Amino acid sequence: MSPARAARRADSAALSAPAALHDAETARYPAPRATVDPDTTKTWLRRAMPILRAHRGIFVTALVLSFVGLVLQLQIPNLLNHAIDNSVLRHTVPLHFYVWWILGLGLAGGLSGYVSRLFLFQSAYEIEYDLRTMIYEHLTRMSFPFYDRVQSGQLISRANSDIRSVQMYMTFAPMILVQCSSALVAFGFMLSINVPLAFVAMITMPFVFIVGHRMRKGMFPVSWLIQARLADVATIVDENVNGVRVVRSFAQEKEQLRTLAKAADKVQWGYVKDADLRARWTPAVQNLPQVGLALVLAFGGYMVIHGTLGLGAILAFNSYLLMLQAPFMMLGMIIMMGQRAAASAERIYEILDEEPTIVDRPGAIDLLDCTGDVRFEKVGFSYGPDLPMVLCDLDLHLRPGETVALVGRTGSGKSTVARLIPRFYDVTEGTFTVDGHDVRDLTIESLRSNVGVVLDDAFLFSVSIRDNIAYGRPEADIADVEAAARAAGAHGFIEELPEGYDTVVGERGYTLSGGQRQRITIARTLLVNPPILVLDDATSAIDVQVEQQIHDALRVLMEGRTTLIVAHRLSTISLADRVVLLEEGRIIADGTHAELLETTPQYAEVLAQVDPDADVALGSTNGNSAAAGGSGSVHGRGGH
Ligand SMILES: Nc1ncnc2c1ncn2[C@@H]1O[C@H](COP(=O)(O)OP(=O)(O)OP(=O)(O)O)[C@@H](O)[C@H]1O
Ligand SMILES: [Mg+2]
Repeated sequence: MSPARAARRADSAALSAPAALHDAETARYPAPRATVDPDTTKTWLRRAMPILRAHRGIFVTALVLSFVGLVLQLQIPNLLNHAIDNSVLRHTVPLHFYVWWILGLGLAGGLSGYVSRLFLFQSAYEIEYDLRTMIYEHLTRMSFPFYDRVQSGQLISRANSDIRSVQMYMTFAPMILVQCSSALVAFGFMLSINVPLAFVAMITMPFVFIVGHRMRKGMFPVSWLIQARLADVATIVDENVNGVRVVRSFAQEKEQLRTLAKAADKVQWGYVKDADLRARWTPAVQNLPQVGLALVLAFGGYMVIHGTLGLGAILAFNSYLLMLQAPFMMLGMIIMMGQRAAASAERIYEILDEEPTIVDRPGAIDLLDCTGDVRFEKVGFSYGPDLPMVLCDLDLHLRPGETVALVGRTGSGKSTVARLIPRFYDVTEGTFTVDGHDVRDLTIESLRSNVGVVLDDAFLFSVSIRDNIAYGRPEADIADVEAAARAAGAHGFIEELPEGYDTVVGERGYTLSGGQRQRITIARTLLVNPPILVLDDATSAIDVQVEQQIHDALRVLMEGRTTLIVAHRLSTISLADRVVLLEEGRIIADGTHAELLETTPQYAEVLAQVDPDADVALGSTNGNSAAAGGSGSVHGRGGH
């Protein structure tokens, strides 16, 4: 039995247990614990609440512990008050009593602060993980029309900073509020010591809040701007690295450096502006509490002198004021963080609210024991509601086991036809069926596991060649991988690589040539061994000799398999039983190569354009093809 056939068996075994397949998939990583509330009428925070709720255990513990720690520490100034009055001045209580208490409280407060912070950061990162996984999972479910519209790379990098700001707000804002609420407790202590002085001490707090808020308000747009400009710089650097060949070949290094310098200048302007604002506000922010202290000293000192207040009270108030500053400063920060988080959340929801357009219909059935009968009936297709029709009134039937070559000028819609077969897009008009089932009635997973697609974009992952080939069947053993590579004409050059099948392919496979990459992508599809094969320009970057090898292999593999092959070369056409000529999205001829040459003058024209060097008559070397006809030679451009 050929390895290919064995593979096909394994594949259908996997297919007959789609549930098991699904389990394996979901088991690979812990899924997010919650999702965003889909109700778009709610505010962003309420929509995000389910995520926070999923982590409420550790989150609430963190908040409670933080509160407890603060309250414990708030006892210290009060104890200090009593220590000064009772031990230092009046000697009624031994001093070490207070010293031990203060040390103990400090320790307990510090400990609960430590645990609370630990839990807070843990919940923060769990929330971040959930948001990230949720977005990524959503992106993997999105259909191709979505990817046509958005730049996925930019989307993901933007999502990163947005996730961060939402996460920060959701976890740190409640924490700051808890700290502010501890200010109430402190105020209570101050009131218990001396009511008028408590009010005097708190006079500056609203100003601390206002100044803090205004400072953030001034700095907020600048920090936003700095972030955006840093992203610009990163983009330029990224382009310079990835496009280094283009830059060098056009000798544009200097120009690129100028562009980079300009972008860096803009970042610098942002940083200088930021420093300027900080320099202006910091003295105000730092000196306001001193005003508070001065007021406490003035009023409190007056009362001490007149014997209405103990000396310890002034010290206690002093400590309270210092403790309260930070929460009031941060209160201003929450407002800013909130605005930023709202904007970020909107952008995240924009992604999450977009429903994938190509999904399993309720009650969709699995495509089992696929024979490979593929039929387009009166299919019309456009890439979007405002875009022109790319395919019109397309009728095409690929019988089980048949190989059809699709020929046409560039832009005639060949790749579009190829993309409809694995249901990357849905037809706009008419129907597209596999084995008599409208593909919209089939589960996408089962359909796609029966359709192998080799696209002209030979994308490889940054893993070993073996893993790249085994991408669709990770459990395949090395013998199967090698057989697929042999069939794709890749085994020879892979073996010559220093590490053979274990060679790790660089980013997008840059260390390999275009033709080598194509052969690996062919091997990848052959290993899955699907009953329906779609080859779009799969051999365009491969030289004629290697192509011949692949063709020999393909010829064997295409046996009993339905194949649609987008052909640019006569040699590729020779593999096919039938040729279909596409022009502006319509089929204008359908028959064997020989028939088309005779009946359709445009055919020879198109062939002359797409493969000008070829002799239009298929030579005797390709005589084993059913498409090879005995018509006269029509040579190159002059053939009509
Ligand atoms: N993702 C897309 N969104 C919008 N329009 C598209 C998209 N892909 C292709 N088109 C348009 O559809 C038409 C057909 O494109 P298609 O890629 O099918 O041509 P093709 O026959 O494969 O050409 P080539 O031989 O150059 O590969 C073109 O006019 C193209 O601009
Ligand atoms: Mg194409």
